[in-house]
Amino acid sequence: MEFFSRNDNGSMMAEDVSVSFLARQYGTPLYVYSEKALREHFSEFEQSAGDFPHLICYAVKANSNLSILRLMASLGAGFDIVSGGELARVIKAGGDPAKVVYSGVAKTESEISAALNAGILSFNVESEAEMERISRVAVSGNTTARISVRVNPDVDAGTHPYISTGLKTNKFGVPVERAFNLYKRALELPGIKIVGIDCHIGSQLTSLAPFEDALDRIVMLITRLKNEGIVLEHIDVGGGLGVVYNDEVPPSRKSYMDVIINKIRGLNIKLICEPGRSMVANAGILVSRCEYLKEGETVNFCIVDTAMNDMIRPSLYQAWMKIEEAEMNQNASDAVYNVVGPVCETGDFLGKDRHLQVAAGDYLVMQGAGAYGFSMSSNYNSRPRACEVMVSGSDHRIIRKRETIEDLWRGEEL
Ligand code: LLP
Repeated sequence: MEFFSRNDNGSMMAEDVSVSFLARQYGTPLYVYSEKALREHFSEFEQSAGDFPHLICYAVKANSNLSILRLMASLGAGFDIVSGGELARVIKAGGDPAKVVYSGVAKTESEISAALNAGILSFNVESEAEMERISRVAVSGNTTARISVRVNPDVDAGTHPYISTGLKTNKFGVPVERAFNLYKRALELPGIKIVGIDCHIGSQLTSLAPFEDALDRIVMLITRLKNEGIVLEHIDVGGGLGVVYNDEVPPSRKSYMDVIINKIRGLNIKLICEPGRSMVANAGILVSRCEYLKEGETVNFCIVDTAMNDMIRPSLYQAWMKIEEAEMNQNASDAVYNVVGPVCETGDFLGKDRHLQVAAGDYLVMQGAGAYGFSMSSNYNSRPRACEVMVSGSDHRIIRKRETIEDLWRGEEL
């Protein structure tokens, strides 16, 4: 279902509310999320898993707004976190720490200790040195850490190099051969309980083949471990399922889950997955206002009030994000524009070569902005960060206030 689409008058709607109305009410840049979309995406994962023992751990980094985390928690989700800050957010939002898996290559002692105190489900261990540190921290806290080894299966996820994580040249996880030895080492370490195995091969994957290749390698390792008497409670397959930004044809949530479950059926193991983008990307839009149109000698610019500090994906990954008019302005003429922001960098653009029928003062909508949008935003160029609004049917409410000018120097000293 489309949660952000045009009504019969050509106005872009967020569920039952006009986007231009929201932009006037709350100002721009404005992130707008659809609660229905979030619920539907979660329940598609949930229903696809059916009776198979599973836990959907939403990847907090994709969008870590407390209201979104609270909604996920209320639906029964667990969480994939990568920092002490994300753990604190999950707890603040009412998430259950016993459903938290903790990934990331550089966990500090204090982060490990906070996660142990909270009683998380599993540390996804990314190196031998980290395993030893977790053991030490657990022993000194008189507790036991539940761990999985994050295996790097060396598969090419076929995605942008910056978001590919399962190749041996990437910093993530432990190669399959070493992982086996690391499990044996874990058996000897005090304060460690082996509970699972983990992998995450990359993001925005639009084919199931890399997932299948990775799983084949992991399943072989699970069998090898079983022969050594190491029996695992769960397999965590990470995140990575792609979404439609333009003309991609990613697998459905159902076929993704079916493929995974078919590979692991019979292993008597619980499935954990860590979807981020596929949960939130198409549950959010970013609304901006056209400030000026500027004709260049070879390029026309549509200069908006939203910049790379609000949405860095186009600048950082050359990501193509769909940009549309919020209303059809019959008085504006149609032209091709580079849509650029106010930040003083040539790389500050939201889209290039876009056909738009737009005039100064009109609102533009960027689709697919719910994932890695606000969560990657910054105050670069001393720009207060955007407001975030949640829509549910015809209701709408602020879930993060627009930052004020004073917020810009919070914590600084004169
Ligand atoms: N689990 C782990 C360990 C991860 O590192 C990630 C994402 C996920 C799960 C969630 O992956 P997803 O389902 O969202 O693909 N900023 C980039 C994406 C970076 C992804 C980092 N890791 C972007 O905007 O494309």
